[in-house]
Amino acid sequence: MRDAYIATSVRTPGCRRGKGALKDTRPEDLLSFIMKAAVEKAGKIEPKEIDDVMIGCSFPEAEQGLNIGRLATQIAGFPVTVSGATVNRFCSSGLEAIALASLRVMAGWSEVTMGGGLESMTYVPMGGNLPRPHPEHSRVHANLYASMGITAENVANRYNVTREDQDEFAYHSQMKAAKAQKEGLFTEIVPTPAARYVLQDNGTYKKETFIQDFDDGVRATTTKEGLAKLRAVFAVNGSVTAGNSSQTTDGAAATIIASGEAVKKYGLKPIAKLKMYTTVGCEPDEMGVGPRYAIPKLLDLAGMKTSDIGLWEINEAFASQALYCIRELGLVDSMDKININGGAVALGHPLGCTGAKLCATLLANMQRKGVKYGVESMCIGGGMGAAALFELCD
Ligand SMILES: CC(C)(COP(=O)(O)OP(=O)(O)OC[C@H]1O[C@@H](n2cnc3c(N)ncnc32)[C@H](O)[C@@H]1OP(=O)(O)O)[C@@H](O)C(=O)NCCC(=O)NCCS
Repeated sequence: MRDAYIATSVRTPGCRRGKGALKDTRPEDLLSFIMKAAVEKAGKIEPKEIDDVMIGCSFPEAEQGLNIGRLATQIAGFPVTVSGATVNRFCSSGLEAIALASLRVMAGWSEVTMGGGLESMTYVPMGGNLPRPHPEHSRVHANLYASMGITAENVANRYNVTREDQDEFAYHSQMKAAKAQKEGLFTEIVPTPAARYVLQDNGTYKKETFIQDFDDGVRATTTKEGLAKLRAVFAVNGSVTAGNSSQTTDGAAATIIASGEAVKKYGLKPIAKLKMYTTVGCEPDEMGVGPRYAIPKLLDLAGMKTSDIGLWEINEAFASQALYCIRELGLVDSMDKININGGAVALGHPLGCTGAKLCATLLANMQRKGVKYGVESMCIGGGMGAAALFELCD
């Protein structure tokens, strides 16, 4: 197998569903913008060199339906010859797309590809616009359709992750994100054109564009006392709140992958290689445990130990499940290497985009800190985990 080099990995800001800066920006616009931005940042690759585009999306319907992976290539102004597909593995969709795009390069089927992710949770709600569970199978496999919030409650209850533990974790996520924002560490963000509709004197609305360059869900004023006051939102007497859950978010991200030959041909300076990617199934009603199984499987495949990994991005779908996984993986003493700029509790979790978003964040941090090996992992609705290993290029 050949190496898959990451030439560039970028993202839009993540902004709050329905309330944030991207709420009036169509998902097609978000995605096509970040795809163009990735090409521009890579520097020496023309869009015509991109053989195929794989885009993760968790609810690929309505405004982000009709094979958004292909549509966006054309909205971005790429030549008609650039093909595109939409990939769905729920919360790991963006990472799955990057892995599939990388595999094409590794297999020798493509020289340059793009993988990315998109989710506008404002335009398409979680669960989709018209969920239609199978009338008989959904009774037998009811857990496959469980609310994500209930799965987070299950993890908290089954594995003794207390409300205090969850709030403490959420507090630190907010603090890390606020600090990173203040210090300008989110260098993977490309300032993104956003739409807003402004009421005119004659009663009509005019579309205006402004530039959004930061994640707008971060709450720098969060306190542990404030978090403790929030009520549980998914279960009576539960412990999962708006403050210790991931935020619902709009965003897009894109990564360009190249073969060694393409790196030489176009004079690219690759950031990292995607070394390994794996997925695993687990019980759907506690889907949050996914990383606890996906990460050991990944490291076994790679012949590595947790101590070999310098940085981790473990998606914070919920504080309960992220903390449980960190404990089970024996990483409690490595908190300074995990989600160092905060996680989805503060920065948001735009479902199908998240895998691609975390890739951009992880690689920016690996580059800044000179860390050789980084792992990205997440839990996945329906009961799965995914994990990927990246190696920094010299
Ligand atoms: C939990 C959830 C239902 C909350 O939704 P929401 O009510 O829209 O959440 P918001 O972020 O608007 O927060 C609601 C309120 O909680 C309070 N709050 C949230 N975070 C807070 C914090 N860190 N400190 C203090 N108060 C906070 C605020 O009062 C806030 O209202 P405001 O924005 O008007 O100030 C939603 O975020 C959710 O579903 N998350 C999980 C998504 C999911 O399942 N993803 C898939 C995982 S696999």
